[in-house]
Amino acid sequence: MSGADPPTAPLLPASARAPGKCIVFGEHAVVHGGPELLFAIDLYTQVVVRAGAETSLNADRKATEHNPYLRAALARLLPAGPPVAVRAVSSLPRAAGLGSSAAFVAALVRALEPAGGRRSPAETAQLCFELERTAQGVGSPGDTSASVAGGFLTVNARGGSPLWTVELAGQKWEARRIEDPRWVWVVAYSGLPRSTADAVRAVGDRLSRPDGPGLLAEFTRVAQSGVDAVAAGDRAEVGRLLGENQQLLREVGVSHPRLEALIEAVAPVAQGAKLTGAGCGGSVVVLPQPGRETEAMRRLARAGAVPFAVRPAPAGVEPVEPR
Ligand code: MEV
Repeated sequence: MSGADPPTAPLLPASARAPGKCIVFGEHAVVHGGPELLFAIDLYTQVVVRAGAETSLNADRKATEHNPYLRAALARLLPAGPPVAVRAVSSLPRAAGLGSSAAFVAALVRALEPAGGRRSPAETAQLCFELERTAQGVGSPGDTSASVAGGFLTVNARGGSPLWTVELAGQKWEARRIEDPRWVWVVAYSGLPRSTADAVRAVGDRLSRPDGPGLLAEFTRVAQSGVDAVAAGDRAEVGRLLGENQQLLREVGVSHPRLEALIEAVAPVAQGAKLTGAGCGGSVVVLPQPGRETEAMRRLARAGAVPFAVRPAPAGVEPVEPR
């Protein structure tokens, strides 16, 4: 199936689930062409789509008015109906920097795959990014690529093997598969929801100042060094680079006192920590010292966050039995 095919109806009921994501290096810079390293996390959004008398999301019949992701997906995939009742269940906190909207979009796209046709993973990644971008107005295909691909991946970085290239409005991003170093990571949600679009726009303004190109070059150096250190299995170097990346994120204005407090609280048992995702709230990612994962979670919880020990989700978006 190619992106040019006219949409046809899916076979309903249908269901799919997709993982969220954790960005290790390079958020924000990736929007401007810099490298990013991220992995799909083993926290999922599952979507079930049934034929309905009216279109709804979790019984909310006004959802297409206030959920731009649902609106964008249905306008593109079911422009002529039928009305569908969508149920979404997620273990991902929303607006937390952990890819809940990308996971929702990817699961919905997979569930609404036309009967008798299959999109390739590359077509799915392209479509999911276009829908997220329609809904959000800004951003890169990192989050949606992670939800589609699963596992560890990079965008715009050297190393690994090619997954796909996503293009929009004259900009291109290359996603590549890299090997999972098989470490346990901890992510912790600060409890402060934030808007990705607002943070991305603010960083775009910051990078358009005279020192912007120099900052972007530093983001690029740190993220590519991080990709190389992960490939070499060098935890100490990855930890150090997490700290350097956090310093750059502070400089572009997307850290927050709550995130700094979490990074400080976990520091004695961490090899490194930084914010993950858009920042200004949201979550932190921590590489705990080996064997200190539980202590890291305890410290983050005591500091008021909701911690999760995460591993890379082995698979990306996939169909599941509708239940
Ligand atoms: C958000 O999860 C990551 C950002 O880099 C935006 C994007 O890449 O779409 C801040």
